[in-house]
Amino acid sequence: MEKKRRTLAEPFRIKMVEPLKVTTQEHRTKVLEQCGYNPFLLHSSDVFIDLLTDSGTGAMSDHQWAGMMVGDASYAGARRWFHLESVVKELTGMPHILPTHQGRAAERILYGILGGKNKVFLSNTHFDTTRANIEFTGALAVDIMPEEANDPEKDLPFKGNIDLEKLKVLILEYKAENIAAVIMTVTNNSSGGQPVSMQNILEVRKSVINISCCW
Ligand SMILES: Cc1ncc(COP(=O)(O)O)c(C=O)c1O
Repeated sequence: MEKKRRTLAEPFRIKMVEPLKVTTQEHRTKVLEQCGYNPFLLHSSDVFIDLLTDSGTGAMSDHQWAGMMVGDASYAGARRWFHLESVVKELTGMPHILPTHQGRAAERILYGILGGKNKVFLSNTHFDTTRANIEFTGALAVDIMPEEANDPEKDLPFKGNIDLEKLKVLILEYKAENIAAVIMTVTNNSSGGQPVSMQNILEVRKSVINISCCW
């Protein structure tokens, strides 16, 4: 029997609105031509619906806004930092927490430590800021998508996976000691936001451990 689709109403009310400039097709065509069809050169004030990114498009809940009022921003030992640290530790089980204001800033710090000349990073696809932060250190960033991911007509469930065969070959080619990290971007943003399977993540981990141990 065919499963009936159920529409679930969003269990929240959005309380704040931000006006957007309503543009005409003529205006959009003109600004796109002017920037050579590179959406990174567009001014956000010319964008009505942003399909480039989800960054900066989220809304905070009433509890989050209230938290900003009751929290303190002391230079050292801030009460709200201890709260954030305990919640993140509880959710992730990670012993060390370093807050950053954005993903790209976190990458700048991380790859500043892991990167450097002669280092190689392998990924299903490096997100643009990931690649930029890696290459800035002089390291090499290599994407290893499966061949079928390049075919938009193919309807497959996990086109964001890493190609395991290519991964093994590349680890041997670049030598395990030069590989600074194997990065899974989930979902695979720069490859059309394609999903990555849990199985693939497990197998990538297994191959990395096996090959690094044998080296
Ligand atoms: C891997 C990765 N790095 C960086 C970013 C950018 O995030 P932010 O806007 O917080 O810098 C994203 C956003 O999707 C991401 O997936």
